[in-house]
Amino acid sequence: MLRVGVLVSGGGTNLQAIINGIQDGTITNTELVTVISNNKNAFALERAKKHGIEALCISPKDYETREQFNDALYDVLEDRALDLIVLAGFLVVIPEKIIKRYENQIINIHPSLIPSFCGTGYYGLKVHEKALERGVKITGATVHFVDCGTDTGPILLQKAVAVKQGDTPKQLQQRVMEEAEWKILPQAVTLIANHKVRVDKGQVLLLEETSC
Ligand code: GAR
Repeated sequence: MLRVGVLVSGGGTNLQAIINGIQDGTITNTELVTVISNNKNAFALERAKKHGIEALCISPKDYETREQFNDALYDVLEDRALDLIVLAGFLVVIPEKIIKRYENQIINIHPSLIPSFCGTGYYGLKVHEKALERGVKITGATVHFVDCGTDTGPILLQKAVAVKQGDTPKQLQQRVMEEAEWKILPQAVTLIANHKVRVDKGQVLLLEETSC
């Protein structure tokens, strides 16, 4: 069983998609061990508790230095003996110590087709605002492994979503979630859990046909 920890900051709809996938059997060989948020008010924590999953708040605000926060997060992740860490709308920069320890064991969901609309400052609704400003006709979502850069790691799955004329950022965000994020994130987890993913020289090789 793949032992998974999900890191969240907000509503947790992507977390919910993973919980649902485990419950309905579309994600196999996976145990959701812990959900960690930097924000004690994140609704994602309520979702975890409702399903009997450990829900923890580890916030930089509760530590004197960033290093102390980094160490606390590191220690909890180590203690839970995780095989995979999923960043599902986690808005805190992951310390290098954790990235190095969990090389090719951390994935992130990003609400655009990387390399468009990604990198520093591109998160949440801002991504969709920028996509609409630029006037793209297609956007989407990406699941990628996390390396030391911002949204620069090997791409695992992507799914395109049409932009409709007159879309507001919120409407576009919702469509990208429904049509792409909630599909490819659970799919990525089950692919990893079933040993269907290999990373070689910065590229992801899928050992199974996928239909995103
Ligand atoms: C999602 O749209 C996710 O792609 C985005 O935050 C949202 C979290 O929603 N992540 C980023 O922008 C990361 N750069 P959720 O809490 O409902 O899953």
